[in-house]
Amino acid sequence: MTNEDKAGLQLDSKKAAARVGLTSDEIIINGGSPLKGRIKVRGAKNLATKAMVASLLGNSESVLTNVPNISDVRVVAGLLALHGVLVTRGESGEWRLDPTNVEVAHKADIDAHAGSSRIPILFCGPLLHRLGEAFIPDLGGCRIGDRPIDFHLDALRAFGAVIEKQPMGISLEAPNGLKGANIELPYPSVGATEQVLLTAVLAEGTTELRNAAIEPEIVDLICILQKMGAIISIEPNRVIFIEGVEKLRGYRHDAIFDRNEVASWAAAALATKGDVYIEGAKQEEMMTFLNVFRKVGGDFDVEHDGIRFYHPGGDLKPVVIETDVHPGFMTDWQQPLVVALTQAIGTSTIHETVYENRFGFTDALNKMGADITVYKEGLGDPSRRVNRREFEQAAVITGPTPLTGADIEVPDLRGGFSHLIAALTATGQTKVTNLGIISRGYENFIEKLRLLGADFIYEG
Ligand code: EPU
Repeated sequence: MTNEDKAGLQLDSKKAAARVGLTSDEIIINGGSPLKGRIKVRGAKNLATKAMVASLLGNSESVLTNVPNISDVRVVAGLLALHGVLVTRGESGEWRLDPTNVEVAHKADIDAHAGSSRIPILFCGPLLHRLGEAFIPDLGGCRIGDRPIDFHLDALRAFGAVIEKQPMGISLEAPNGLKGANIELPYPSVGATEQVLLTAVLAEGTTELRNAAIEPEIVDLICILQKMGAIISIEPNRVIFIEGVEKLRGYRHDAIFDRNEVASWAAAALATKGDVYIEGAKQEEMMTFLNVFRKVGGDFDVEHDGIRFYHPGGDLKPVVIETDVHPGFMTDWQQPLVVALTQAIGTSTIHETVYENRFGFTDALNKMGADITVYKEGLGDPSRRVNRREFEQAAVITGPTPLTGADIEVPDLRGGFSHLIAALTATGQTKVTNLGIISRGYENFIEKLRLLGADFIYEG
């Protein structure tokens, strides 16, 4: 990472922290004690933010509950408010979104949100439907690869949007309205699938989307759109049909639980030899993760209102994992699990096939004593590689290696959580900086650490 990148990251981190009221950007953790106790998982970041955008499509107020208090939600709320949506945050994760008076926002105000999140790209279809024009700031999100938006733009063009690149972002118009389209995605991209859904529901005619992503958060978004009046069917083999309708109403919906938050705390329980009950976690959406958790040597009990994750004693075992789209092993699950794998006896391999550059977090783990080698070449058959670029795609972890405290900097959201786990697992003291990045996706994580008995100093 260049010094300029580092400075940018620190700035992002401070801004993200401030959005959710965290006043300090660092924590000192005294590692070595198991995490034990009970926490509650919140609604998924990767659904809640999109559901908020969907509210723009309705002609009446929407109510979303179980919304996490994370900075990405604040960014989307800010952008909605700029476009005239009346946004009201109620008690315990309820957000009311009234789009009755949607209006064009000033470009300079929109630009103030540049670089804060990936979600603004999803405003394109809804704003084109509501206002006939849209301006989208340059995007942000985690630095885990190039993260292009070509699938999004190609899909929007297929609906009839005219797109112009401008110095501060992109501007879009739909001179002849948006019409249903036949689209095949080059890859089952989560964001591009959401883009098509949010655009097709009010487009004239039918849209057929092939090679669509079918993550549980996407199915939950489809449920929301159906509540609003949309007609969408999920067919076999990643095909989604959307019959455009003339108008949609507001919705009331409880956001699906955050699978990434569950996997992260579960991995923390395993690495620290702990025992954590996660209220709100559900088995069906976590099946692939649960299989791997068990293979590594962890155990879990599925109860009616959550899942207990624990280290049952004995040695942890190495695994070979390939990240994939749903129902495969999520790319967001590998980083927290890698810390537990540093404690397994033998060699584990993680092959990252979704993003080109998602192993930056391993430098800090090596500094703490881990033995992780990152390979630019993907492993195995070339068809399993991310075919866009030659980047860091496979990590080989040799364990067990005791971890010792160090000063480390959070590089991205999921990598940052893995740094917290490493600090909790290590002997001695670890200072973790750029903590605000973690608040982009984990609600009240400091409070949850406290609830689970972690030993730390946080002055905020
Ligand atoms: N891609 C393109 N062109 C595009 C869009 C995507 O080449 O126009 C590539 C990406 O560069 C990547 C792959 O396709 O290599 C998959 O990207 P996808 O569009 O599926 O990801 P996303 O929608 O940008 C969401 C989550 C990510 C999660 C991925 C995969 C949100 C806001 N983000 O990203 O979550 O890792 O799907 O499940 O929903 C996180 O929460 O930390 C996070 C990064």
